[in-house]
Amino acid sequence: MRQFQDHFASTGAIQPSSRFLARAMTEPLRDRRPAGGVRIVEMGPGTGAVTRGIVKAMRPDDELDCFELNPDFADYLTQLIASDPAFDARRDQIRVHTGDASHAEINAPADFVICSVPLNNLPGNAVREILGAGRRVLAGQGWFTYFEYVLLPRLHSATAASSERERINAVQELKSAFRSGNTWSRLVMLNLPPARAVHVPISAEQT
Ligand SMILES: C[S@@+](CC[C@H](N)C(=O)[O-])C[C@H]1O[C@@H](n2cnc3c(N)ncnc32)[C@H](O)[C@@H]1O
Repeated sequence: MRQFQDHFASTGAIQPSSRFLARAMTEPLRDRRPAGGVRIVEMGPGTGAVTRGIVKAMRPDDELDCFELNPDFADYLTQLIASDPAFDARRDQIRVHTGDASHAEINAPADFVICSVPLNNLPGNAVREILGAGRRVLAGQGWFTYFEYVLLPRLHSATAASSERERINAVQELKSAFRSGNTWSRLVMLNLPPARAVHVPISAEQT
């Protein structure tokens, strides 16, 4: 709650994602994985609600790089991974980086990007950079997953000042241009507020 008050735009949630949303966010990782170990990038892990879902889906040869902008959350997550038994089996396969996920660098192409950065709260240029970074680390193949709260953007847009409406429309257009024909989504009512996990397949032809 304190991080929400102090960093409203970048935190973008009053409470962590539910385990149901975390499960929906990790569906491609469970069901559409290529053979062998995979590389996963998590953008905006916060206090680790989705990270827990990722870790449940990880296998022994997988690697996870988490990029978190807020140093307090990054420290919290580092401690959590070091001490919580839920991470015991995968602790050595996870790295937490403090910094902007737009500048994410890893040493080989990722297969999955799982993004909880609150795209709907950000200026258009920041959204463009996050989506671009996702495409860059995937290097022409894989899945980019993000979530968005349902109903809220429409309600917010209906009551917002015109400059804010323009920002919201610009963000919606960027997300819509990013999605491809084979994008699919999963509605999760058991989350506060209800949300949709959106799974975008990335292919070399789009880059
Ligand atoms: C909506 S919270 C999600 C936290 C957690 N993944 C969950 O689902 O409960 C968004 C998180 O994204 C982080 N964030 C915002 N902008 C970011 C950026 N550019 N790079 C990395 N993390 C960012 C925030 O600090 C916050 O931890």
